[in-house]
Amino acid sequence: MSTRPRVLSGIQPSGTMTIGNYLGAMKNFVRLQDEADCLFCIVDLHAVTVPQDPADLRRNTLSLAALYLACGIDPEKSTLFVQSHVPAHAEFGWLLQCVAYYGELSRMTQFKDKSARHEVVTAGLFTYPALMAADILLYQANLVPVGEDQKQHLELTRDLAERFNHRFGETFTLPEPYIPKIGGRIMSLEDPSKKMSKSDASPNAYIAMLDEPDVIRKKIMRAVTDSGREVRFDPDAKPAVSNLITIYALCADKTVAEVEAMYEGKGYGDFKRDLAEVVVSALTPIQARYRELLDSGHLEEILRRGAEAAAERANATLRAVKEKFGFLV
Ligand code: TYM
Repeated sequence: MSTRPRVLSGIQPSGTMTIGNYLGAMKNFVRLQDEADCLFCIVDLHAVTVPQDPADLRRNTLSLAALYLACGIDPEKSTLFVQSHVPAHAEFGWLLQCVAYYGELSRMTQFKDKSARHEVVTAGLFTYPALMAADILLYQANLVPVGEDQKQHLELTRDLAERFNHRFGETFTLPEPYIPKIGGRIMSLEDPSKKMSKSDASPNAYIAMLDEPDVIRKKIMRAVTDSGREVRFDPDAKPAVSNLITIYALCADKTVAEVEAMYEGKGYGDFKRDLAEVVVSALTPIQARYRELLDSGHLEEILRRGAEAAAERANATLRAVKEKFGFLV
């Protein structure tokens, strides 16, 4: 048996991916696949907790598969699959809804935020964290690489796993969140007190992974900065500049201190012009591979093989869980 840690993470195929998704999550997925047994999921069942146009959902699912691969996910090293292709997720998600409490789901801040934004609030949006726990526990994941916004869902997952173990006997590994210290929360370019999000009404608040180079340059030159002119990392006193330094450091594979040292004595203008080029250089090769992969005709086959490999593991866990519940299996 493999002693490598088991990693699982997921991304919703709900349209535009931002550099928040890339720097907070995907970039770490790629790093982890060399040291861990990794499964990466396109969580379409999660996406439909808010209304989705069917044609868009199909397109976005394939687009996200291409983007995962373009960022460097290697299907020979990692299992890449679509959540709805492995029915065990929905089945186990239901069982965990019967373990989760109404009160704890009501406390989820992401539910509160999203339900305030949508006119129609589905029951699925409310029980969403139980499905996410199912995604993770089905594979006995030890590590879950995510951005900071998913921390509370991870805590709930651990609570559900503990409750299950307590009630039915030791079954689940308790997963640890893997949240990068730098980049776990990339902020809006227009308001550094808000998370960078694809659902922001203003496209200037985020850089999409597929934005054209000139669009990226324009958005960065327009990004808000702080008073003063020093390029210094200090999230409390200089939240906007600190966010830009974070993006620079991660895109250029440098430390924050290295970036600060490079811009000592220089102003925001020089820094932003260089930052734009650093982001363009990080995203341009990904965009080129993305376009090749979309046209390659190989995506469906990669996803089919991924689902087969994932289902084999997921079904073994689900069977054990159903026996513990007392279902006739
Ligand atoms: P989703 O699809 O909203 O986002 C995918 C990943 O991107 C991270 N992220 C960010 N990181 C840093 N800064 C930002 N501004 C930023 N915006 C997004 C998210 O934290 C996430 O890691 N519920 C999950 C999907 C999911 C999942 C799972 C994740 C479903 N099942 C199982 C892990 C394990 C979500 O909605 O992510």
